[in-house]
Amino acid sequence: LASIRVDVADVAPGTQLTVLWQGKPVFIRHRTGAEIQEAAAQDADFDSFPDKNARNDNIDAAALATDENRTVPSPEGEGAGAWIVQMGVCTHLGCVPLGDGAGDFGGWFCPCHGSHYDLAGRIRKGPAPSNLPVPPAAFVDGTTIELG
Ligand code: FES
Repeated sequence: LASIRVDVADVAPGTQLTVLWQGKPVFIRHRTGAEIQEAAAQDADFDSFPDKNARNDNIDAAALATDENRTVPSPEGEGAGAWIVQMGVCTHLGCVPLGDGAGDFGGWFCPCHGSHYDLAGRIRKGPAPSNLPVPPAAFVDGTTIELG
């Protein structure tokens, strides 16, 4: 399937970009240091996660839904955990969740039926059955992500 390259040079920490890939929205978020810390701290709730699979096409299909396993390796010169890339499609019935800290877990919230996703896009509350999928994604240089 076709891949696309996305210039993320202007995506400052604390903001996100939505692009279309294969006709679907993809959320690319550049996390702040505080968000990275909070997301890693959310791993402490792992036992209560409705979906414990990372759902990350870039790593082993059996990998667990730790924050580290949900993020894209950072470009050179930037610390781990700074970037999260995921499909912007609620795993319940396909609405587009709201971002920028929406919902009870500081991540994304789907207003259609009330699904709450955390800072790593993991489903935490509501009817959605699984984490927001991480598509094939990688930095190909310091400011460009390739999807697909
Ligand atoms: Fe998102 Fe139903 S489509 S909660």
